[in-house]
Amino acid sequence: MAEKRIIAVVGATGAQGGGLVRAILSDQRGGFGARALTRDVNSDKAKALAKLGAEVVAADVDDVESLRRAFEGAYGAYCVTFFWAHFSPERELANATNMAQAAKQAGIEHVIWSTLEDTRKWVPLSDNRMPTLMGKYKVPHFDAKGEADHVFTDLGLPVTFLLTTFYWDNFIYFGMGPKKGPDGKLALTLPMGDKRLSGIAAEDIGRCAYGIFKRGREFAGKTVGIAGEHLTGAQMAAAFTKALGQEVRYNAVPPEVYRNFGFPGAQDLGNMFQFYQDFDEYFCGARNLEVARALNPALQTFDAWLAQNKARIPLG
Ligand SMILES: NC(=O)c1ccc[n+]([C@@H]2O[C@H](COP(=O)([O-])OP(=O)(O)OC[C@H]3O[C@@H](n4cnc5c(N)ncnc54)[C@H](OP(=O)(O)O)[C@@H]3O)[C@@H](O)[C@H]2O)c1
Repeated sequence: MAEKRIIAVVGATGAQGGGLVRAILSDQRGGFGARALTRDVNSDKAKALAKLGAEVVAADVDDVESLRRAFEGAYGAYCVTFFWAHFSPERELANATNMAQAAKQAGIEHVIWSTLEDTRKWVPLSDNRMPTLMGKYKVPHFDAKGEADHVFTDLGLPVTFLLTTFYWDNFIYFGMGPKKGPDGKLALTLPMGDKRLSGIAAEDIGRCAYGIFKRGREFAGKTVGIAGEHLTGAQMAAAFTKALGQEVRYNAVPPEVYRNFGFPGAQDLGNMFQFYQDFDEYFCGARNLEVARALNPALQTFDAWLAQNKARIPLG
């Protein structure tokens, strides 16, 4: 049998990377092997990936030498940063630079960089429709990812820019799911007006990434935007109502109200939702459902995702 081409996966114990590792390992005849990068090879999540058949290796995106060792001998690398672990766009940029340098040194043949828009190209810092945050960002957890795109191309790496989007899993883990109001009724609070939110099941991001690796270098040098569905708040509330068997109303709050909810990251997310709203034609247009489905035929709709996950959504 031909030697398997190894994909080194950053964030393998997390949402995006985990989906990719599982996609690779569930396709035994696909010709690819999964190398899972983690800071702790002895964690339960790391052991679970090893049990599935992944090669588990230690690496930290803050440590370029550890990345170089982990990328050595691999064909591909999936690169992602972890904004919510540290809330620092500068650190994301530094981590992306480390991954790009390590990929170059290891001779990686195809990199996928999990990126988002640098929103300052649409909303310059002088545009007061939303506040400037941390001195030089509009949506900090987007901007540095987009800003980092060039570090891969500057090194001449064959890179695919994967534009991800809002995980529906945020309704489980990020406290964004429907909540009971003072009237005891469930409401989905989002600052989206009547505009569409481009969403995806987090597991499908890795599956789409696998589809990109499988196509060889066809997507090298290209940007690929993916989503599962583009739905309005009202449409998502209707889907929740159907799935949960109890009424969920859509509570459209202005971004300014959302920014002042006070939880860590509320301002960043308020600006993000305003960006989604104000540029919805661009944003949804840049995430093509047909392309995502072609890369990943198992792509879930919101209804399908809800059917699988509704019991895991905390209804406060
Ligand atoms: N939530 C959303 O809707 C959404 C949408 C689009 C994009 N994003 C972006 O997705 C990114 C996070 O990806 P994710 O959701 O897949 O992450 P995740 O599920 O939070 O998992 C992160 C994994 O990365 C590893 N990790 C953390 N710090 C690390 C470090 N310094 N070096 C190496 N590994 C490290 C951890 O593994 P170990 O502990 O095993 O090392 C962890 O299991 C964020 O930058 C976020 O902005 C999120």
